[in-house]
Amino acid sequence: MQDNETISMIKERRAIRDYDTEQEVPDGLIRKVIEAGTYAPSAENQQPWRIIIVKDKDTQEFIGQMAVDRTIELFGRATPRQELERRLSYIRSKASLERTIDILITGKRFEYIKGNPETDGAPVLLVLAVQRTHVGNSQATLRGTGGVYGWSAPRHAIIAGSMMLQNMMLAAASLGLGSCVSSVQLDHFDDVQAVCERLRIPHPLWVPILCLTLGYAKYERTLGPPRQPPEEITFVDEWGNNFEVED
Ligand SMILES: Cc1cc2nc3c(=O)[nH]c(=O)nc-3n(C[C@H](O)[C@H](O)[C@H](O)COP(=O)(O)O)c2cc1C
Repeated sequence: MQDNETISMIKERRAIRDYDTEQEVPDGLIRKVIEAGTYAPSAENQQPWRIIIVKDKDTQEFIGQMAVDRTIELFGRATPRQELERRLSYIRSKASLERTIDILITGKRFEYIKGNPETDGAPVLLVLAVQRTHVGNSQATLRGTGGVYGWSAPRHAIIAGSMMLQNMMLAAASLGLGSCVSSVQLDHFDDVQAVCERLRIPHPLWVPILCLTLGYAKYERTLGPPRQPPEEITFVDEWGNNFEVED
C-alpha cells in the first residue's frame, strides 16, 4: 500500500545532530512546535507538562556537557565495542562505522546539545518536565495511590510527555526543522537534580524527562537505524501467533 504524506513524513523524520547555525529558529516557529505538542493526548486531558526553552548559552553548555560526560561513561566505558558494532551494523561503509563509533565513545556525538555554532550545535534546546503525581484518575480518594491499578502515577505522566514530544518532532519536521530527542543528560539522579536547580524546576513534584533540540539540519539525513517490520513485532490473539499480511 502506498504511503500517504503523513506516513511518509513519520518514516523520513531523522534524529538531527548537525545543525546549520547560520539559520535562526524564530520564536514563532518554536511556539508552533510547542502548540502541536499540546494537542497530544493525556489522561483526562490533564496536560501534565511544562517546557523550558533554554536560550542561555551557558545553560546549554552545562546541560550538553552532562550529556557528553554520561555518553563517555555509557558508550566509552560500559558498552563493549562488539555491542556498538552490532547496533551500528546497518552502516555499510567501514569508514562511517569507525567514525560513528569514535564520536560515540568520545562523547562528541552529543556535543550538539551544547548549541555551540563552531561544532554545528543546535540553536534551540527545549527541556520537557512532567508532573510526576499525575494520574488519569483524578478523584481525590485516589491521590497518592498511584491510581486504580497502583502504577498509573509513574506511567501516565511519562506516557503523556512522550506523546507530546513525538507530536513536536513531527510538527518540526513538517516545518522543515530538524530535531533530536535526548535523555542521556537526564538519566542519572544527580543530573536531574542539577538540571532542576539550574532551571529552577520545582523538583520532585515536576521532573525533567527529555530534551529536544531544534534547528535547521546542516546535512540532509536519510539513512537511519532500520526498523523491525510489523510482522516481527505483532501477534494475533496470543503472544507468538504470527501476523502475516501483504504490504
Ligand atoms: C527515550 C529516548 C532517549 C534518547 N536519548 C538520546 C540521547 O540521549 N542522545 C541522542 O542524541 N539521541 C537520543 N535519542 C534519539 C535516538 O537515538 C534516535 O531516535 C534513534 O536512534 C532512531 O533514530 P531516528 O530518530 O533518526 O530514526 C533518544 C530517543 C529516545 C526515544
